[in-house]
Amino acid sequence: MTHAAGSERPAGPRGHWLFGNTEEYDRDRNAFLERCHREYGDVFSFDARTIVVSSPDQVHALLTRTNSDFLAENSPLAGSVDTEQMAADAELWTTTRRAGWQGLHRRVAQAHAERLREIFLRTVGEGEMDVLPTMADFFGRATADFCLSADAAGVPETLAENVAAIDPLSRDSLQLPPWWPSRKVRRFARSRKRLLTLMADIVRRRRGASGASSAEDLLGVLLAAGAAGALNAEGAAGGRQLSDLQIERFLRGIMLAALGVPAAALTWIVYELSTRPDFLARLEEEAAAAGDVPVMGDLPYTEAFVKEVLRLWPPTWLIGRTVRRETELDGWRLKTGDQVLFSLYRLHRDPRWWSDPDRLLPERWLDPRTVPVRHTYLPFGAGPRVCVGTQLGMMQLTLATSWLVSGMSITPSQEAAIVPDFSGLLVPRDLRVRLERRAVRQGA
Ligand code: HEM
Repeated sequence: MTHAAGSERPAGPRGHWLFGNTEEYDRDRNAFLERCHREYGDVFSFDARTIVVSSPDQVHALLTRTNSDFLAENSPLAGSVDTEQMAADAELWTTTRRAGWQGLHRRVAQAHAERLREIFLRTVGEGEMDVLPTMADFFGRATADFCLSADAAGVPETLAENVAAIDPLSRDSLQLPPWWPSRKVRRFARSRKRLLTLMADIVRRRRGASGASSAEDLLGVLLAAGAAGALNAEGAAGGRQLSDLQIERFLRGIMLAALGVPAAALTWIVYELSTRPDFLARLEEEAAAAGDVPVMGDLPYTEAFVKEVLRLWPPTWLIGRTVRRETELDGWRLKTGDQVLFSLYRLHRDPRWWSDPDRLLPERWLDPRTVPVRHTYLPFGAGPRVCVGTQLGMMQLTLATSWLVSGMSITPSQEAAIVPDFSGLLVPRDLRVRLERRAVRQGA
């Protein structure tokens, strides 16, 4: 159905005559979207080029038609929207993604678990801690190790610099063009180049070394892709070898994606553990029975707890797409270059799809009768651009939760209630806790 002429754009708040809705949106992004949803329903206009959708069917259409009608590509820097260039980037990324997929599935992820524990014990120590930076350090080291194993020296630091340079740019609604003489833009460009140069050196060195195609880490899998007999996750032949440039960009993409989002998720887990001691006994009992490096199947309650924290606090709380070519969505006409947004956070807490939506109830994932309505639970996205690290990320979060509860007591350091920060990734603002390693359990 196409809406009647004259109503080609859905209704929405008009905002300031010059700045539109940016000011109110930047004050509290989630509150603004919630108000508009209440007032205008499941589809509303944000501005002349942006609409926001909210129903599972609309979200399903947006995600499954990504790559064909919509593009996931974006950049923290502005520029006129060049959908041709974005489509070309999407093609290149998708080819590499197909080859890289086999380096990211559950078996490879599980093989990395032992080293993950060592990194966890080294980075998450005792005492008072600022949780988000600590978890970012843990995941920065974990992702560098997963991608590059023995060649990872120096990478976590360069990666952290790159993440720190992206952060202030991605929080700004008003994007700056790449030529803008601002310190923020220059710092971003420098750190991106440093990381790519480092990747290029490592790829060149590894290609030159004998046994370059060992599949011990993601780089090994990528170098082996295209070799005789290599299969991707869908079982298709690996095809041509990937170029060095494809591999370098893919590694950078993976390392960035596998740092900030999982770190935010683990920070929310720590927050829930610190304020809800009632969950600890069961989590701890499961961790004790599963041992130091458990396999996922041994931690069903911990996995349910993690899934529930991701429902309440999805770090990627807002997802956007750019319209690739003129199309329609749920009957609304869209022009090339328009933006479509949806809030995962709102979808996960919508009382139409969830009973008791604001309560942390891990049990809801253990009851086989409660299957969520399709596309109402998407912490890892869906469709052709679904998170490639879903298995690895779930494993890392579940194991880290079991290590946290089995070794330590966690108490909040601040009296005041935590404020969720929606300005970038969803994080609990300034969460600090006290971690104390307890004496070894009797009989352990
Ligand atoms: C642990 C928690 C994680 C969560 C909640 C998460 C969430 C997400 C979400 C929601 C998306 C889709 C964004 C969109 O549709 O625009 C995504 C994409 C992506 N994720 Fe994750 N992620 C996690 C961990 C990881 C890990 C460990 C890796 C890497 C090993 C990873 C790599 C990626 C990549 C490369 C993409 C982009 C995929 C593409 O555009 O083709 N993620 N993630």
